[in-house]
Amino acid sequence: MKFRNFKMVDYVVYGRGSFNQLDEILAPRRKSGAPIIFLLDHFFEKHSLYSRIPQQKGDAIILVDVNYEPKTSYIDTLADQIKKEFGTVSGVVGIGGGSAMDIAKAVSLMMNNPGKASDYQGWDLVKFPGVYKAGIPTLSGTGAEVSRTTVLTGPTKKLGMNSDFTPFDQIILDPELTANAPVNQRFYTGMDCYIHCIESLTGTFLNEFSKSYGKKALELCRKVFIEKNDWDSESDDQLMMASYAGGMSIAYSQVGVAHAVSYGLSYLLGTKHGIGNCIVFDKLEEFYPEAVKEFKWMAAKNKIDIPQHITKGLGEEQFDTMINVSLGLKPLWENALGKDWEKIMPKEKLRALYEKL
Ligand SMILES: NC(=O)c1ccc[n+]([C@@H]2O[C@H](COP(=O)([O-])OP(=O)(O)OC[C@H]3O[C@@H](n4cnc5c(N)ncnc54)[C@H](O)[C@@H]3O)[C@@H](O)[C@H]2O)c1
Ligand SMILES: [Fe+2]
Repeated sequence: MKFRNFKMVDYVVYGRGSFNQLDEILAPRRKSGAPIIFLLDHFFEKHSLYSRIPQQKGDAIILVDVNYEPKTSYIDTLADQIKKEFGTVSGVVGIGGGSAMDIAKAVSLMMNNPGKASDYQGWDLVKFPGVYKAGIPTLSGTGAEVSRTTVLTGPTKKLGMNSDFTPFDQIILDPELTANAPVNQRFYTGMDCYIHCIESLTGTFLNEFSKSYGKKALELCRKVFIEKNDWDSESDDQLMMASYAGGMSIAYSQVGVAHAVSYGLSYLLGTKHGIGNCIVFDKLEEFYPEAVKEFKWMAAKNKIDIPQHITKGLGEEQFDTMINVSLGLKPLWENALGKDWEKIMPKEKLRALYEKL
């Protein structure tokens, strides 16, 4: 098919305090005797949000470990645990940052698909719809709430389960939940959105659909990270909608150089997505001159340190691993540099870029 026919999230609720509607939203989804499983970012273990989760008899809250970005083995463990303990479930609800939301998407799919999560890393490999899944972000920027992928690190690659079955059935966008996120984390995850916009808007896959969402998201990112001097509740509102629009923008285009390079970093060193993108973007003047200048300015204004020299001391084999992971992401490179991308970014050049990080 020439034009992408993309599956969107079915239901969206937006608003401060909308989390309180969760019980009502889940009610029609409940099948008798089948619980809802809440997959909650472990950060909230002792937080007031924990007790606000509308658990009914038989439901369970599983705290998910997001110290590391989700691995396929972790998804398999969680899905097996849920199947063994609860049998059939009415659905899963992921509450947290991009990691917890991705875990929920992947676990939902693995409840109904045979084999291992790593079998489905790629494009359109998932065979059956998952169980009902809802996503509730507590950090803004990744766009995981709207995307058709769930990014997983597997035994041989870091690649998402991209499929029409992957998007959430429901999302609840309640900016109150992102209040008080640590300043650094908020910046790194927020920059994921900023970088989505830049990569989409400067990419060769750009079209009016992506442009419209990308421009809006970029405008909102600039409001919160450049125009305002203090973070307030309006900033949470704005960054949440930036994340949504940024996600919609890349849904119909693609990301670019920063993502392609940071996937390699993250595969080898476990560098997290937000900070990894920042580390890479900081060195991409050649590809995104204006935006990199703006990015450095935002980092300085918001008093954020971007780590340097993280690849120092790595050996030949390790550089090769990163280069191979990165060059495997062909659509990203093609979006960024066009059909002749392999000539513009030969291995040696990418190696030199990794050495700069
Ligand atoms: N599916 C997609 O389309 C997509 C897109 C981009 C990134 N991702 C994935 O998203 C993940 C990154 O997500 P992220 O940047 O949101 O971070 P994250 O989910 O990894 O969380 C980062 C840290 O912030 C904590 N945290 C979450 N909410 C908080 C809050 N309100 N207050 C304080 N701490 C909080 C978490 O416990 C964690 O320690 C990566 O795994 C990446 O691969 C997915
Ligand atoms: Fe991203």
